[in-house]
Parts: sequence; structure tokens; C-alpha cells
Amino acid sequence: MDRTLADIQAEMRSQLAPIYSGRELQQIVFELLEHFGFTRVQTIAYPDAKISETDYQRLQAMLKRLADGEPLQYVLGEEQFMGMSFGVCRDVLIPRPETEELVRLIADRCKAPSPRIVDVGTGSGCIAVSLAKLIDGAQVTAIDVSEAAIAVARRNAERNDAQVEFVCKSIFDDNQPFAPSSLDVVVSNPPYVTESDKQQMSRNVLDFEPHLALFVPDSDPLLFYRRIAELAAQWLKNGGMLFFEINERFGKDTVQLLENMQYSNVELHQDFYGKDRMVSAVWNAK
Ligand SMILES: C[S@@+](CC[C@H](N)C(=O)[O-])C[C@H]1O[C@@H](n2cnc3c(N)ncnc32)[C@H](O)[C@@H]1O
Repeated sequence: MDRTLADIQAEMRSQLAPIYSGRELQQIVFELLEHFGFTRVQTIAYPDAKISETDYQRLQAMLKRLADGEPLQYVLGEEQFMGMSFGVCRDVLIPRPETEELVRLIADRCKAPSPRIVDVGTGSGCIAVSLAKLIDGAQVTAIDVSEAAIAVARRNAERNDAQVEFVCKSIFDDNQPFAPSSLDVVVSNPPYVTESDKQQMSRNVLDFEPHLALFVPDSDPLLFYRRIAELAAQWLKNGGMLFFEINERFGKDTVQLLENMQYSNVELHQDFYGKDRMVSAVWNAK
């Protein structure tokens, strides 16, 4: 039996009501129906339009995953970032809007011709791919410890026709793949959520997003920042720049860390909610 869009919408609302409401629920209904080829205008204007039995069965499977708390982006298998589509699955963090601000900051500040850029902890590849597309002549390399994440990021570079080189490696390994003073930009959005931040996190992040991408011990919240800043001090050319996305609670500590390591022009930047979210710094070898 073919169902109408009106039937389907009623069913979606009732199945998703235990966890979503209001505008968020409406947005999910629109996005799911868009996935099956119905524009928002069609959804509103043609409630009697029919959905095929095959699509109805697929939709049911997606609704079940959503009702179990899985984020919409994993269920749809994609997320938009900087106007591009990135494939996502549970092996990678879902790209966040705040991270678009980090990409824009780098594109704005990076003036080196054909810059050599390294993205540490690339995940879906959203930062690396965006910089490769935005900055003329950029030579971008992306590192991640997770083989599964590297595979996703590689597919996203192909999907968006971006030239990015990928390396699967932990930043805590002794041997690192870059020559001294060879890079113009190092960027990272590393794991920065402390165990004590967990209490404030929603279940769909905690239960579904990769913990390898999220968490650091309470005893050393700047673990990744310190290590990446040490590596960047070796890798960056004189005048090269380091960019971090940060935990809003540790803005001043991150600035202090970089100043103590002899970085100059250390700046704290806010996101669109006015929260401390990015740090930039310049490396000048003494
Ligand atoms: C917060 S996610 C950022 C993902 C992506 N760059 C973004 O902004 O959406 C951090 C990433 O760091 C990676 N990572 C964790 N430990 C690492 C390590 N020791 N060496 C390299 N990458 C690591 C995780 O696999 C994850 O993809």
C-alpha cells in the first residue's frame, strides 16, 4: 500500500515525539523527506503525494535509528560543511558549525603563497578538504590515528574533488612525517572534552560519536594541545601559524600554554555564540 506524505508525516511525528519536539522535529521531518526526493515545498503543498512501499520501508528503518537516539547526520550518512557535503558514519565526529569558523579564520589569516598545511586529527576530513578547496595552491596533509576515519576522510576528499594527502599516525608516536621548518600552517580540532564535561552532554553524542574523537582525561585537559604545539614548533617555518579549536573552558590556559612555549601573537577568538572557541599563534624560531 502506498502511503501519502500526510500519513508519513503523522507517523514520523508520533515515532519521534519521545525525543524530538517543536522546530527540531519539523526540521528532521523535512530533511528525511528531502532524502527521499520531496522538497520542502512539495511536503507542505502536496500532502496527498505518494511514497513508494520500498521508500516507506527504508524510511521506517531510519525512523527506528532516530528513535533510538542516533544523530540525524549518521542516519542520513552525510552533513553539510562549508557548503559541501561530507559523508559521515560512526567512525568520525559529525562536523560542527563552530569548526567552519576555524576554517574561515585560517583562510583569512593565511597569506603564504601555495601554503603547506597540516590538519591534525582530521576525522571526516572537513577542515583539510575545506582548506584545500578555499586556499589557492594549498598543499594539504591530514593525519589521524584512526584508520577508519582516514578512510572516510579520503572518500570525502574524492567526493569534493579536493587534493589532500592522508597519513594514519598517532601524534604521540616518536617518528613524525614532516621535516623541520617545512610547514606554513598547522591546524587541529583535537579531542577536548573532559570526563567531567560528560555530565552536560546529550545522549546522542555520548552513545554514538567516537570517544576517541572526544575525550581527554580530567587530569590533563591540554594533553593534545601541548603535544601538537611541541610538534608544530618543529614543523613550522619562521612566521608559520598554529590554529586550534578549543574547549571554551580552557581558552586562557591554552593561550598561556602557547605563550610559555614562545609562540607570539597568541590570540583567543570567540565563536558566534560569543564563547572562547579558537586560538591562533605565530611561530618565530629564536
Ligand atoms: C574532535 S575530532 C576532530 C575531527 C575533525 N577534524 C573535525 O573538526 O570535525 C578529533 C580527531 O582526532 C583524532 N585523534 C585522537 N587521538 C589521536 C592521536 N593520538 N593522533 C592523531 N589523531 C588523533 C580522532 O580520531 C578524531 O578524528
